[in-house]
Amino acid sequence: MVKYEFDKWADLYASRTNSMKSSEIRDLLSVTARSDIISLAGGLPYTKNFKLEKVVEAARTTMRKEGGAALQYGPSEGHIGLKKHIIDLMATGDIKIDETGLVITGGSQQGLDLIAKIFVDPGDAVIVEAPSYVGALNAFSAYQPDLIGVPMDENGMIVDLLEAELKKLAKQRKKAKFLYTVPNFHNPAGVTLSLSRRKRIIELSKKYQLLLVEDNPYGKLRFEGENIPSLKALDDDVVYLGTFSKIFSPGMRLGWVAAPAPILEKIIFGKQAADLCTSSFTQRLVEYFFNENNLEDYLGGMINRYRSHRDIMLKSLEEHFPSEASWTYPRGGFFVWAELPEYIDTTEMLAEAISKKVAYVPGRAFFADGSGKNYMRLAFCYPEEKDIYEGIKRLGGVVKSQMSLYNSVIFKEEK
Ligand SMILES: Cc1ncc(COP(=O)(O)O)c(C=O)c1O
Repeated sequence: MVKYEFDKWADLYASRTNSMKSSEIRDLLSVTARSDIISLAGGLPYTKNFKLEKVVEAARTTMRKEGGAALQYGPSEGHIGLKKHIIDLMATGDIKIDETGLVITGGSQQGLDLIAKIFVDPGDAVIVEAPSYVGALNAFSAYQPDLIGVPMDENGMIVDLLEAELKKLAKQRKKAKFLYTVPNFHNPAGVTLSLSRRKRIIELSKKYQLLLVEDNPYGKLRFEGENIPSLKALDDDVVYLGTFSKIFSPGMRLGWVAAPAPILEKIIFGKQAADLCTSSFTQRLVEYFFNENNLEDYLGGMINRYRSHRDIMLKSLEEHFPSEASWTYPRGGFFVWAELPEYIDTTEMLAEAISKKVAYVPGRAFFADGSGKNYMRLAFCYPEEKDIYEGIKRLGGVVKSQMSLYNSVIFKEEK
């Protein structure tokens, strides 16, 4: 966290910094990193999933075979050896691209920043899900768009409401610059966009000339059910973001953007200005890692682990949360999204939760308009199973105590 002191440079900052704020998640993580707190807040991969010995081997091979190149600058569009693995990975989801069809980025977070950088002028309309991934909201906000949130239900973004927004914009003779969606195992909502809605969104994108940006960090982490084709597999015009963060390691900072050639060209210009190239070392390390370790086998163990974490969280919610609360059923990914009675403010409730040594992310962080006060995101990825159970038990107690406090006040007022 930044230390606060008088800012004598305050009148020098560009106006775009007004909309830049520290992510509520990052601030929270700094508190919840304390070992005595059970954190259901951060979307961090389970640490024991990292295969340390095999990573050491891959690092050795990288240095032995390509030490010079691994320590050198590389092409801005990315290292061909890693691109080959990404192309194979995308092909498992029926997306056919070659090495000219993607750029490797510093995590998909850099992809989000670059997309906003090349498309958004201040005041441009950008459509997002409500709720939406907080890191995307922050990346986009720096370019001062008008963010339009479209509500979701258990099948993802509600397409009728999207169409209503598109009609409203058309009436004002405006067009949104793009629509951003996380279709699989949404962060924070945990839900998945249905196939029929995917098809309708593509129809609408043609009708309203709307660019679609599909962010898919969790798609390979499916616990049950059939895979649903990605938007990119259904329409080649879609801009697609992928990452190794959730399927391998976020510390490597490796993601990618697959997009039509003209868009990719602008992204490369933007990336050159931002960081010249992604780390030559980590790109090769991950290349050698997946030369030796089959990705699908590797994912299998990880998926079993996360499924079991999810099951424990759902069981514990059933046991310990009040019947007035409800939550989503994620078929993959990292998150459960819980709704509490309307009068509860989860941002205010967090202090009590932390005093009981459990943390979550308050719902408000995920809405561009600051709504969502009675929601919370519960991440089951990182904690040990016994801690998930205990954390939800403690949180259930906090929610119940907030409810009885409210009811006693109302009861007194009515008397
Ligand atoms: C939906 C979504 N997109 C993008 C990211 C950024 O991931 P990274 O930059 O590590 O690839 C995350 C991380 O939590 C995420 O949940």
